[in-house]
Amino acid sequence: MNGIVAEGIEVSYGRGRRKVRALNHVSVAVQRGNSLGIVGESGSGKSTLGRVIAGLLEPDSGTVDLDGTPLASMPRTGPGSLSRVRQMIFQDPNSSLNQRMPAGAMIREALVVNGIECDPKEEMVRLLDLVGLPATAADSYPFELSGGQRQRIAIARALAAQPRFLICDEITSALDVSVQSAILRLLRDIRDQNELTLAFITHNLDIVRALCDEVIVLQDGHIVEAGPTSDVFDHPQDLYTRSLLDAVPRFPWRPFSVAAAD
Ligand SMILES: Nc1ncnc2c1ncn2[C@@H]1O[C@H](COP(=O)(O)OP(=O)(O)OP(=O)(O)O)[C@@H](O)[C@H]1O
Ligand SMILES: [Mg+2]
Repeated sequence: MNGIVAEGIEVSYGRGRRKVRALNHVSVAVQRGNSLGIVGESGSGKSTLGRVIAGLLEPDSGTVDLDGTPLASMPRTGPGSLSRVRQMIFQDPNSSLNQRMPAGAMIREALVVNGIECDPKEEMVRLLDLVGLPATAADSYPFELSGGQRQRIAIARALAAQPRFLICDEITSALDVSVQSAILRLLRDIRDQNELTLAFITHNLDIVRALCDEVIVLQDGHIVEAGPTSDVFDHPQDLYTRSLLDAVPRFPWRPFSVAAAD
């Protein structure tokens, strides 16, 4: 199948009495061009699963295939290599961006490292424009940018590799609601234009509803519910899913919507 297929993923951290089973026989499948929401309370295993799908953490057992190719058999370099095929974006752009490099240089570096055939300067400006930043942002260091602008730089740098898979771990949780929706609209558009397959980890169930075709609900490293987002959210079968949905604070005067400014 084209897309992300993970089967029988098991991950434990630590040993002996300190052993934590972070993922217990977790399987997910998401079609190419679709988005998978990964939700669950803190410590349920979301980031662990994201890192396994991204090939940043080797599971104790289980397999991950991206567009039908096992992660384990992907070459280290070249067009089919893991770093070209997938990119991961994290909650805190401060820790992933190089503080001593201007934004434009970071994006150009990603183009060169990934062997993208292009005029690096032109492509860098195109990527900045794509994420809604002016060409002048190229000269700014991360500390000169706002949190939302830094996250856009992180997205532009991830897109520089022309990935087919994007794994996003809480990428908007540090941002205010209007910046969140702008970044989510951007991701949705990029996904639709480039047939990107997205895995989206978040605590925000409204975001999942707005952005994700499928959702899995994790509790203590187990999947307790999975399926099309509307089915799972409108007719939750599991008590835990219901409690997560009931816990969502509602602010009627400012409903969250990715489509708000369309
Ligand atoms: N490097 C690690 N070493 C030991 N235990 C870890 C490590 N990373 C995660 N864990 C444990 O594995 C479990 C799952 O952690 P994980 O980070 O995947 O949860 P999460 O759902 O992403 O939580 P959050 O919403 O707080 O980010 C937790 O019990 C956590 O304490
Ligand atoms: Mg996490």
